[in-house]
Amino acid sequence: MENVKGLFAFIEKSPTAFHAVENVCRELEASGRKRLSEGEKWELEKGRGYFVTRNMSSVIAFDIPEGEADSFRIIAAHSDSPAFKIKENAELSVRGKYTQLNVEKYGGMLFSTWFDRPLSVAGRVVVRTEKGMEARLIDVDRDLLVIPNVAIHMNREINDGFKYNAQTDMMPLFGDETAKDGFKKLVAETCGVPEEDVLGCDLFIYPRIKGSVIGHEGEYMLSPRLDDLECAYSGLRAFLAAKKPESGVNMLCVFDNEEVGSGTKQGADSTFLYDVMQRVFIALGKSPEDAFRAAASSFMLSADNAHAVHPNHPEKTDAENCVFMNEGIVIKFNANQRYTTDGVSAAFFHRLLKEKEIPFQHFANRSDAAGGGTLGNISGSHVSINTLDIGLAQLAMHSACETAGTKDLDHMIGGMTAFYDSTVKAPRDGEFILG
Ligand code: CO
Repeated sequence: MENVKGLFAFIEKSPTAFHAVENVCRELEASGRKRLSEGEKWELEKGRGYFVTRNMSSVIAFDIPEGEADSFRIIAAHSDSPAFKIKENAELSVRGKYTQLNVEKYGGMLFSTWFDRPLSVAGRVVVRTEKGMEARLIDVDRDLLVIPNVAIHMNREINDGFKYNAQTDMMPLFGDETAKDGFKKLVAETCGVPEEDVLGCDLFIYPRIKGSVIGHEGEYMLSPRLDDLECAYSGLRAFLAAKKPESGVNMLCVFDNEEVGSGTKQGADSTFLYDVMQRVFIALGKSPEDAFRAAASSFMLSADNAHAVHPNHPEKTDAENCVFMNEGIVIKFNANQRYTTDGVSAAFFHRLLKEKEIPFQHFANRSDAAGGGTLGNISGSHVSINTLDIGLAQLAMHSACETAGTKDLDHMIGGMTAFYDSTVKAPRDGEFILG
């Protein structure tokens, strides 16, 4: 339960991707890893750890081995979750009496789960400084907003199915008529600057729900943003717990914007990972050929949560390739390679997990249903290495509050740590020497 407590604390202080990345960076810094900036010259030492952020919402950390940097062991997860983003003109007035916030959806959430619960505001604000401008993170961190349901008396058919409209049904109530023009003031106050110094922002609303352990024997947990902060947190714990690598580079990537297709300058569909790998090689005085050779012996775990069999709708999943909470790391397969796992990458991971006696299970979508995509194949178009898609089984993905298994976190951290502590050498295509 120690890891569950740690995960809840991490999620609670990570209401947005910006905060999640900041909290990852804090732990990396506390562990002695050095913060780099993309705008500076990198001087890297063997045996030391580093990390670099892009857009303050994606981070890549890496540990340089004492020996040869002849491969990469990469774990990737995502920092963002579906949420509502506040539009630039933030306020809406209703009959001169109510002030709402004007929001649009970021990613694909279950609308109904956002109603009738306290919500707050967090994100990034860019403020004027003497020399130019500076981005800061804010969290209003109090019960502030609600998206009220329409009473059943005014919509008797709601339980027969209802189509929510993002423009009309989802606007949160911010206050009465006195709240008009109050939002920017609140943002400036939270930031500790005068209103005119707020130059730009990326602000989201988030549910004010703390993680809780539920179930007959405490076997389940309920929390916002388990997709994908559970995997991001597991990756961080494993990265910090892994042995100092003798050879090969351990790398942890937490990417923003997975929920909107990853196509941003900091997402998995950017050059961020490729750029960092190239710069590691340049700083270590390696040749371009060394980089190609290292790629052949590299593996990536693309970690994003998976759908557990639903208790009310078991028919939604394949009869055999289906997964349950607390039954171990999920390895995901898809013939069309929306999940990257193939015979080679699966074999590599099976061998590793069997050796450590860490439970695992296999997932594939029903053959007549399309599943969701994730990071692995998108990242693979920039950095083409052996990859497998993994995750932990959960229910209610993209709800404001999701359910997962309390025992699985230990399975994932154990499996990821074993991965970082492993070595791979690929002398020829199809043959691997594993240590
Ligand atoms: Co996800």
